Amino acid sequence: MFFSLATSLMPLMRWIDPEQAHRLSIAALASGLLNPTSSPDDQRLETSFLGLRLPNPIGLAAGFDKNAVAIEGLSRLGFGFLETGSVTPRPQDGNPRPRLFRLTADRAVINRMGFNNAGLDAYVQNLAKRRSTAGLVGANVGINKDGADPLRDYPLLVRAVAPHADYVVINVSSPNTPGLRDLQAEDRLRAILSSIAAAVPTRPPLLVKLAPDLAKEAVARIVETCVDEGVDGLIISNTTITRPASLTSAHASETGGLSGAPLFEPSTDLLRQVARLGRGRLALIGVGGIFSGEDILAKLRAGASAVQLYSSFAYGGPALIPRLKAELLQSLDRHGFANVTAAIGADLR
Ligand SMILES: Cc1cc2nc3c(=O)[nH]c(=O)nc-3n(C[C@H](O)[C@H](O)[C@H](O)COP(=O)(O)O)c2cc1C
Repeated sequence: MFFSLATSLMPLMRWIDPEQAHRLSIAALASGLLNPTSSPDDQRLETSFLGLRLPNPIGLAAGFDKNAVAIEGLSRLGFGFLETGSVTPRPQDGNPRPRLFRLTADRAVINRMGFNNAGLDAYVQNLAKRRSTAGLVGANVGINKDGADPLRDYPLLVRAVAPHADYVVINVSSPNTPGLRDLQAEDRLRAILSSIAAAVPTRPPLLVKLAPDLAKEAVARIVETCVDEGVDGLIISNTTITRPASLTSAHASETGGLSGAPLFEPSTDLLRQVARLGRGRLALIGVGGIFSGEDILAKLRAGASAVQLYSSFAYGGPALIPRLKAELLQSLDRHGFANVTAAIGADLR
């Protein structure tokens, strides 16, 4: 009923401060004001990853609902699954504002939010409240800017969220927490993963989220480390610190992570590289620059079992999700795939 309200409201939000627009969207979703009930998905869209069944492969990426306050409202928009967080052990304010920038002409976003979130206790309380009707929900965890100890904090985070999440993501790739991406180095990653295995023997599937800016040689080492340490999957990718020469927006030189259309190619290239190296040993979620059904199909063909998006949702609002599903069905037809499952990894064969 409020769907048309939502779709007409969201574009207007483009003209107000982007962080304010985001805050209003979360408040509306949490209040149940944006309340469309999406119709059941076409069976051809069904996929599964790590033994979890998804009605469609389109997930909401981490960072939109950092505190897990809008799970019910978001799930009614028709996402196949949701990822909440990143949550850190203690609450933190994040970086000074402004810290979120629209690059409209580039269909991109730059953010340097810096893990602003209400902390683990509040997050776990919210996650525990979710109803079973909300579908699959992942928990993405990160560490505080100050006083962090990765070998203490990641196990503590995983243990706390594990009973309430369908999967858990170790975020070692956000560019806005100094030193965080260094945790992707083989020895440091191995130490974190084995500390989690020792502290949390029973847990839901564990994934690691990678940066798109890794050197080629580093990627192979990360893949083998993750396989060795019992990681179930990878999310590829987080935002990039690079700035393609094609950017035209005034905010292009702001510090932070770039997401949206300019991230599509580098993140899909990394996804394909990891899929080849992983040889089916790791489940993959493809994220970065998805704006169309063709974009989703490209990620599936490159080896992703499911995808996620953030920037296109920030620009397009709730109407985006039904549009992407319709486009994906058309793209499957056009390229001769019977369904989503048939397309997964097609470019690798
Ligand atoms: C404002 C903003 C905040 C984000 N916060 C997080 C976060 O807390 N944790 C995380 O793993 N990724 C975070 N991301 C990255 C997204 O989850 C996603 O990996 C990235 O935006 C690429 O997808 P897109 O091109 O569809 O936006 C954030 C992205 C944006 C734009």
